[in-house]
Amino acid sequence: MERSGDSRPIGVFDSGLGGLTVVRAIRERLPGENVVYLGDTARVPYGTRSSETIVRYARACGRSLEKHGIKMLVVACNTVSAVALDVLRVDLDMPVLGVIEPGANAAVAATRTGRIGVIGTASTVASGAYPRAVSARATKAEVVSVAAPLLVPLVEEGWLEGEVPRLVVERYLEALRGASIDTLVLGCTHYPMLRAIIEQVADRVLGTHARVVDSAEATAIELEQFLADRSLQNARSSNGTLALTVTDRPRSFTEVAERFLGHAVGEVEVVDL
Ligand code: DGL
Repeated sequence: MERSGDSRPIGVFDSGLGGLTVVRAIRERLPGENVVYLGDTARVPYGTRSSETIVRYARACGRSLEKHGIKMLVVACNTVSAVALDVLRVDLDMPVLGVIEPGANAAVAATRTGRIGVIGTASTVASGAYPRAVSARATKAEVVSVAAPLLVPLVEEGWLEGEVPRLVVERYLEALRGASIDTLVLGCTHYPMLRAIIEQVADRVLGTHARVVDSAEATAIELEQFLADRSLQNARSSNGTLALTVTDRPRSFTEVAERFLGHAVGEVEVVDL
């Protein structure tokens, strides 16, 4: 018998194309769900802006996705999740899931020593959202955070391999040398695209093998339960659709999206917020 379900799309947004890491994780885990994505490529990066500006941008993104009749919102952006999640929850008449809590849950599950490193944007680090979320779950755990803002433009430009991203990653991870972390959280949507480089450099610079926790993957895992708890799952178990929208530069977005997702993405619509 066909399961009854909710076929409305899940709205996902990020400041740019980094949120595709969350989209890919969602589509791998929940292939029957329809997804509509918004990348605010006209205004990326968010991570260097004030909280007021991030909240304003986040509200505009939420309203834009609301027009697609979404059943819930996934805030793929760590910066927005750190700074504006509560505002969005009040603003929008639908369930909202951010990436910080799933990331913190996964980090707490992964660590053995309780020493967790987090790399993220300047705003995410300044907000203290990860240390707060981790200590709410494991009072003895300690978080050492490092802002790694230059990784964002590298990803937006599609520089995902080679010497330049490696050197930049090396420079940032140097700050974690001697911190004795056993777990490293990729606390920014863009960083999973550089995961291979980050893992190699982390092993060398930290001198021990740290488990890398990807908040995108962690979010997709929690999303499955989140939908089930609210009876929002789609009845289909495959062939979910993906609609992509951006606020600028659809061509370069399409190129990186196809490379990253590994399939053609069709027309990327440009929207004005
Ligand atoms: N999406 C942002 C995040 O996850 C990174 C890019 C930006 O700074 O806008 O924090």
